[in-house]
Amino acid sequence: MNLPFLSHNELVVGLDIGSHAVKVCQLKQTSGGYTILTLGSAVLPEGAVEDGTLNDPEIVSKAIAGLFQNLKIKNKKVGFSISGYSVIVKKVNLAVMEEAQLEEHIMAEAEQYIPFDIEDVYLDFQDLKTGHQDTDRTDVMLVAAKKEIVDDYLDMLHGLNLNPVIVDVDGFALENTYEYNYQKTENVALVDIGASKMSINILSQGISVVARDIIVGSRQLTEQIQNIFDIEFEEAEALKLGSIQSEEKREEIEEIFSTTCTQWILEIKKAIDLYHANHPDQPLKKLILSGGGAKVSGLIEYLAQETELKVELFNPFLKMTSNSNKIDPDYLANIGPEMAIAAGIALRPSVI
Ligand SMILES: Nc1ncnc2c1ncn2[C@@H]1O[C@H](COP(=O)(O)OP(=O)(O)OP(=O)(O)O)[C@@H](O)[C@H]1O
Ligand SMILES: [Mg+2]
Repeated sequence: MNLPFLSHNELVVGLDIGSHAVKVCQLKQTSGGYTILTLGSAVLPEGAVEDGTLNDPEIVSKAIAGLFQNLKIKNKKVGFSISGYSVIVKKVNLAVMEEAQLEEHIMAEAEQYIPFDIEDVYLDFQDLKTGHQDTDRTDVMLVAAKKEIVDDYLDMLHGLNLNPVIVDVDGFALENTYEYNYQKTENVALVDIGASKMSINILSQGISVVARDIIVGSRQLTEQIQNIFDIEFEEAEALKLGSIQSEEKREEIEEIFSTTCTQWILEIKKAIDLYHANHPDQPLKKLILSGGGAKVSGLIEYLAQETELKVELFNPFLKMTSNSNKIDPDYLANIGPEMAIAAGIALRPSVI
């Protein structure tokens, strides 16, 4: 696993393998910043990816191959990100040490911090260098990911003749996209609402201080619509997205949206309250929403009203250029919130 090293110009192709869809994004570094070369997404059947686990590598592999073919992506170096129960991210406060000594210490002490058998995980760390002159301690970010889960992804990608050179973590990738596009030092809550999980990452002066995944997401809405009207998943999804409309179902659908969004907002508020309790002198300035679930109509306004924060939709391409003859600006604006993680991986330089 590689945490970001900013030394090389060649970028990886960013792959975000979510439970609803695979997203791919390829960027190019130019003298003025970044240009989007290509991007796209492919919907996966239900159950192919669940809680960060690759249940059906064959189907996911086909979806990725299709995207690479349609988008004519030649670069074999890819980065992907992991999330869910198989990855643990933890910040520990340690005495300041040289890199080699720190590695030795972490390897020897890791079991104290990580609830997995050390033999079963890939371990990585980064010294956040938070130590100031008056302290000899620093925060170190530890990441442990279950080998069997990561290896399934690596095997699938190798099977496609791709060269996975970066394993990222959803929350870090999101933070990376934010850092490139927005004002780094603002106190901000990044909230990604996908199909089956919501990731909350609160940054205080550019440093992640609250990070949690909650098992809620936009698929909940589809499943409730499916159950209440006893219809197929696809029809329920279309009703949810408004691509088919039904006047007689409207009221009940609105009720489902309202109850579910209230539940999401309660979870977000809990994280914000925790943050404010620990950082009373660093009030949050705003909340930036990403993921397909961020597009639920009315959610932004509802969230702004309930949290009294400025709430906006994540635009991962805010500071990037693109060729409007190749990428339709409307498509780009519409897919933006779902692309925040893939873009954050695509911003990583390849180190191999
Ligand atoms: N306008 C919309 N209103 C409500 N839900 C939407 C809208 N647009 C997309 N979605 C939902 O967003 C989800 C897809 O978002 P996204 O691609 O971020 O999920 P994912 O990354 O695959 O999932 P996860 O991260 O939870 O594994 C789907 O459930 C889709 O129905
Ligand atoms: Mg996702």
